[in-house]
Amino acid sequence: MGASVPAGGMRSPADAAAFGREWAVVLADVPLFAGLSKRHLRRVAKMASKVRFPARTVIVSPRRRADAFYVILDGKAEVATATGDLIELGPGRFFGEMALLDSGPRSATVTAKTEMLAMSISQRQFRELLESEPKIAFPIMRELATRVRRLEAEA
Ligand code: CMP
Repeated sequence: MGASVPAGGMRSPADAAAFGREWAVVLADVPLFAGLSKRHLRRVAKMASKVRFPARTVIVSPRRRADAFYVILDGKAEVATATGDLIELGPGRFFGEMALLDSGPRSATVTAKTEMLAMSISQRQFRELLESEPKIAFPIMRELATRVRRLEAEA
């Protein structure tokens, strides 16, 4: 997936910028957006920002206000869970959905493991997106169900 990031996509550190229409092509490769038409992908690209994180940047933490949802486009992130597990996430994976869904605190700390390019969506737009694009809600619910199963198997 990393190879499909448009030239000029990686900007200066911690820079956030609006997506252009050309990013719909990149989003088409993200499993979360599978099944969305080109028109819908352009809508998602329009409401999202692209943000670049240097390696070792803490992106999400229980100590910080939860204000965005992220989809990894390039690079790797590491989730440090409350149970002490370390989970690596690569391109196409998402994080930051839980606190936006229940308005609770962040459940884990997510750090950029390498330099990382992500798409971010604000809390308000994340909710709007889920309401307008139910096809996106399903993979998010599936991921949450998988996590509950894993935790119950470990308990
Ligand atoms: P949120 O609680 O908003 O912020 C921390 C994020 O880490 C959380 O959303 C999930 O996206 C992610 N996360 C939490 N626990 C796990 C887990 N067990 N496996 C993968 N990702 C997780």
